Amino acid sequence: MNITVAALSGSLRKESYTTKTLKAFAALAPEGVTVNLVDISDLPLLNQDLEQDLPEPVKRLHEQAMAADVVVLATPEYNRSYSPVIKNALDWGSRPQGNNCWNGKPVAVLGCTPYNLGAFGAVHHLRQVLVYLNMQPLQQPEFYLAGAADKFDEFGQLTDDSTRKLMTSVWEGLMVLAQNTP
Ligand code: FNR
Repeated sequence: MNITVAALSGSLRKESYTTKTLKAFAALAPEGVTVNLVDISDLPLLNQDLEQDLPEPVKRLHEQAMAADVVVLATPEYNRSYSPVIKNALDWGSRPQGNNCWNGKPVAVLGCTPYNLGAFGAVHHLRQVLVYLNMQPLQQPEFYLAGAADKFDEFGQLTDDSTRKLMTSVWEGLMVLAQNTP
């Protein structure tokens, strides 16, 4: 079974741990899975005035999301919630009204932080929004990466075996979810 994944990072920082996590996750994709990293850095801030003539980055986001069978969202935690960059992308993807490009899609959430709690608050806020968007969030296994600063080498490669193992389990769960989603 061939599956296309749209993967979004909620951090725009060049040396982002979140983006490194997402890339490490993508590198472990099972056979038959194509992961496309979706650039959401040039999306304008949501503004309903722009809906009359949708900006190109918004159109591109819709196309890339519609072409995907599955979505993966990697988020940092900001003040115990998820990334506004992800929120902006989710909101644009749900507009104009009646054009929710996320509708029905299986989705996995990867939480990442250099600190201790694994971006737990971010992941839980984000899941609520995904349910409203009628996405199908992977429930188990959950993915929280704490201490991210110690998990990558100077080339951005993941060095932690237990994180790699958890990523593989997330892929397994996601594939089952994708196969059972009409
Ligand atoms: C943070 N950071 C942070 N970390 C955390 O674990 N819980 C939190 O609530 C917050 N809050 C927070 C707010 C704001 C405004 C900033 C800028 C940062 C720290 C954050 O985890 C850290 O900067 C990460 O490195 C951000 O992710 P990337 O850019 O490395 O992917």
